[in-house]
Amino acid sequence: MALITKRVYGSEDVLPKDSYKWQFLEKLMREEAGSFGFKEIRTPVFEHTELFQRGVGDTTDIVQKEMYTFNTKGGTSITLRPEGTAGAARALLEHAIYNDGLPVKAYYFVSCYRYEKKQANRYREFHQFGLEAYGTESPAADAEMICAAQSIFDRLYIGDRLSLELNSIGCPECRAEYYKALKEYFSQHKGDLCDTCLSRLERNPMRILDCKSPVCSEIAKNAPMVLDYICDDCREHFEGVKRLLDASGVKYTVNPKIVRGLDYYTRTVFEFVANGIGAQGTVCGGGRYDGLIEELGGQRMPALGFALGMERLIALLDSSDVQLPIPDTCELYIASMGDKAQEKAFELLKRIRSCGVYAETDIVGRSLRAQMKYADKIGAQFSVVLGDNEIERSRAEIKNMQTGEKREIRLDNGFAEDFLQVKIESGNKSAEYFK
Ligand code: HAM
Repeated sequence: MALITKRVYGSEDVLPKDSYKWQFLEKLMREEAGSFGFKEIRTPVFEHTELFQRGVGDTTDIVQKEMYTFNTKGGTSITLRPEGTAGAARALLEHAIYNDGLPVKAYYFVSCYRYEKKQANRYREFHQFGLEAYGTESPAADAEMICAAQSIFDRLYIGDRLSLELNSIGCPECRAEYYKALKEYFSQHKGDLCDTCLSRLERNPMRILDCKSPVCSEIAKNAPMVLDYICDDCREHFEGVKRLLDASGVKYTVNPKIVRGLDYYTRTVFEFVANGIGAQGTVCGGGRYDGLIEELGGQRMPALGFALGMERLIALLDSSDVQLPIPDTCELYIASMGDKAQEKAFELLKRIRSCGVYAETDIVGRSLRAQMKYADKIGAQFSVVLGDNEIERSRAEIKNMQTGEKREIRLDNGFAEDFLQVKIESGNKSAEYFK
């Protein structure tokens, strides 16, 4: 196939017949985020490369292997965002949003770019919905963050298709001990580690734990686990998170192997993992990142968040028996014959659409027969045919396309009123989801 009619490898189109799923989910997520007090933040699709090097971490797979980085004509190195957290943190600092009061709570929808090997549910362009909160160290914030994610899954009736896996990876202090243990362990396998992991051994041995190479991940299986090394403060914090999750009835399993693939995490980390959608089952991941804001040049400010992969969520919904509400079909089709009738159709459509009705007419120049065929095809619920006769009488017949029942309708100021009356009497209750 010619290149210009082929999408870029690893990217996807959302087609008109499927976009209702995205719209429905976005609406639900906005509502849910709003009910927890989060407000939307929109940041650019690209940032200075250094932001991700410093934020996500230059020993991560993302920074070392997966970023879409290029120089602008002016010679500045910029990168398409591989995730949403660093950009939101940059905006927090740039606009000093923390002065508006703490905690700052923000949500976002972002497209992300990672040059990864394509697999089922792993793309090079994908979309995330995320929440971030800044300025709170309390375990209550961690628990609330997790409750917000859980609550989205529950509203979609897929809470039981996901398992929440929880861990604490400690603070920089307790991590020093852990690094020592990891170095010792991985040094015994030096001969088998990939080149990237060999360099990680000195700088950041924890990154070896999420290397995608099969040999390294096999070796990583028996590595020491961070939960055995965390300090008393971190343990107490972790217990606090678990206590509030228990109180909220959120089920979780402690999985000491979860370390996450980004460098900024401290203390709580978590993932919601789905079964039944293949190897890439992590639908949502997040955690605390108490050091990131300082790392980016701000004052020390604890923070935390999560991001949920939209494509993976939709794959999970598609594989379950949850049917998202299908959007309305056309409520009224006005067919017309002749110029006068067409003008009248345009006038009536303006009125009826201003009442929130989904209505269509012919914009192709089809015969009456073909217009009615089209009305049928799009599943129009009612139709009106306008010709000279109808214009003269200022009356027409409105037909219920399902039952075949016909009624008279006024074509003057009473048109919208008559139509809404017909609609109510027919008991049609669709459209409610999108209002
Ligand atoms: P992440 O685990 O890299 O975390 O990504 C979050 C979610 O994005 C994943 O659980 C997955 O659903 C989706 N995702 C990641 N990569 C791909 C891909 N190649 N194709 C399809 N979906 C993908 C972060 O991005 C952090 N910024 C999350 C966070 C926010 N932590 C704190 N705040």
